[in-house]
Amino acid sequence: MRLTVKEITDKKGKGEKVVTLTAYDFSMAGLLDQSGVDILLVGDSVGMVCLGYESTVPVTMRDMLHHTKAVSRAARRSLVVADMPFGSFQRSPESAARNAARLLKEGGADAVKIEGGSERLEIVKSLRNADIPVMGHLGLTPQRATELGGYKLQGKTPEEASRMLEDAAKLERAGIFSLVLECIPAELARQITAKVKIPTIGIGAGPYCDGQVLVLYDFLGLQEAMRPRFVRVYAPVGEIIKKAVTAYRKDVLEGKYPSLAESFTGNQKPSFKRVKAKRGK
Ligand code: KIV
Repeated sequence: MRLTVKEITDKKGKGEKVVTLTAYDFSMAGLLDQSGVDILLVGDSVGMVCLGYESTVPVTMRDMLHHTKAVSRAARRSLVVADMPFGSFQRSPESAARNAARLLKEGGADAVKIEGGSERLEIVKSLRNADIPVMGHLGLTPQRATELGGYKLQGKTPEEASRMLEDAAKLERAGIFSLVLECIPAELARQITAKVKIPTIGIGAGPYCDGQVLVLYDFLGLQEAMRPRFVRVYAPVGEIIKKAVTAYRKDVLEGKYPSLAESFTGNQKPSFKRVKAKRGK
């Protein structure tokens, strides 16, 4: 059984951190789910790390549904949150609610995430009226990176900081169940975390948040295009893959792979063992 939105929000009162990672495909999501991650965030960062776009702006509802379905098929315990891509919620609160409902009904997500502050209140309320759980996202909101001057620290001036504090409180009143804080000073994240009752989930926002999220491909050292200072590479999987592929290439070129022991003889039954047959629809 997956964690519920209530179990996630209750963690704040119990002083338990909310462990979050992004996920985009079935196999990786399965590993994260089995390792005890609380929230699998199908981020629109999929556009940059999996699809090769330069920003998250080109990501479509179709892309998000495709990847959310794959992650949802693997998630047994983790709550699945799907990002609402650029252009899917700005037209009207009604069409935002329709698109969000698709991510739950067709994608199998439990909740959606929307970037932005007080300009999103009507949209958040419309989704909440449709019983759709919403995660907020303040600070560096990548869909508006160009307006914000690039991928940069936000909330640096006292005016920006107090606007963000107000926006966090307004979003909470509109009904969000948790709030991502991206790339803001640790002290501002501490103040927002103290002000709201819902869990804050930091990324580049210091240690005082109620939870943390990292982009999986950063965490595993799988992408080299951007490496912000807050990223800790927990396993250098990118390097391991390059070494493995170099060794494979050498073996193939030298005729060392496959060996006869790794080949079929004419009268053998091919055996493809299924290790685990538990898959969703
Ligand atoms: O799309 C994403 O991966 C995100 C995280 C950076 C929070 O929104």
